[in-house]
Amino acid sequence: MKPWIVGNWKMNGSRKMVREYVPAFLDGLLESGELAARVHVALCPPFPYLGEMSSLLTSYPVRVGAQNVNQHENGYYTGEVSASMLSELGVTLCIVGHSERRHGHGESNALIGEKVKILLAGGIAPLVCIGETQAERDADDHQRVVEAQLESALQDLPAGAASEILIGYEPVWAIGTGVNATPEQAEEMHGHIRGWLTGRFGSGDGATIPILYGGSVTPENARALMSRPEVNGALVGGSSLKPEMLVSLLQQSLS
Ligand code: 13P
Repeated sequence: MKPWIVGNWKMNGSRKMVREYVPAFLDGLLESGELAARVHVALCPPFPYLGEMSSLLTSYPVRVGAQNVNQHENGYYTGEVSASMLSELGVTLCIVGHSERRHGHGESNALIGEKVKILLAGGIAPLVCIGETQAERDADDHQRVVEAQLESALQDLPAGAASEILIGYEPVWAIGTGVNATPEQAEEMHGHIRGWLTGRFGSGDGATIPILYGGSVTPENARALMSRPEVNGALVGGSSLKPEMLVSLLQQSLS
């Protein structure tokens, strides 16, 4: 499977950063044409920068992703952004269910399921984030937690949805902590998720859904994580904020 590298800027950046970052990143990415052809790349800046980033990336092999979406089409939802609005800005991928939204904004499994559906209806690929807390892992409950998250996020989907979805396994204890899951831990959980996906979507479609690992991925550890057969990509926070660091991470991932 062609791997994915997705940069999640979270609430970081500025217009100046977008304008400087994109050309520098493209220089690094395209310097070796072969690199760009071997990987799917997406950048997910905050909402206000999506339009400009899309314009700068038009005709380049880098997708623009959002970090959140509202579950409704439109209406009385002050401060929210719809899938069709994202689409107009050139967004073709959207992170949903990130733990910072589950824990910081009270997003439930059911709500995340609604967001997945509105994205699919709008032609935007949902990157569905799942992952356990440290306490859940300590209680040996991590597999059950992740299964419950998958179950709610991926129920009652339209036919063909499996070819649009991506999964991001992000153990909460690894996000922004500098403590990544070991390649063995990632492999084990990704294998478990793959088993769930093939159970739900069948051995054909279920085997093609990319499962990305996220949580303290750096240029230093990317290779060991990405060399695991069940790890189909990386969802990168802090290390995506500097173009040269993300390019180095890409090079390491594919080496
Ligand atoms: P860090 O790479 O900064 O740990 O963040 C991971 C993440 O949450 C990406 O969505």
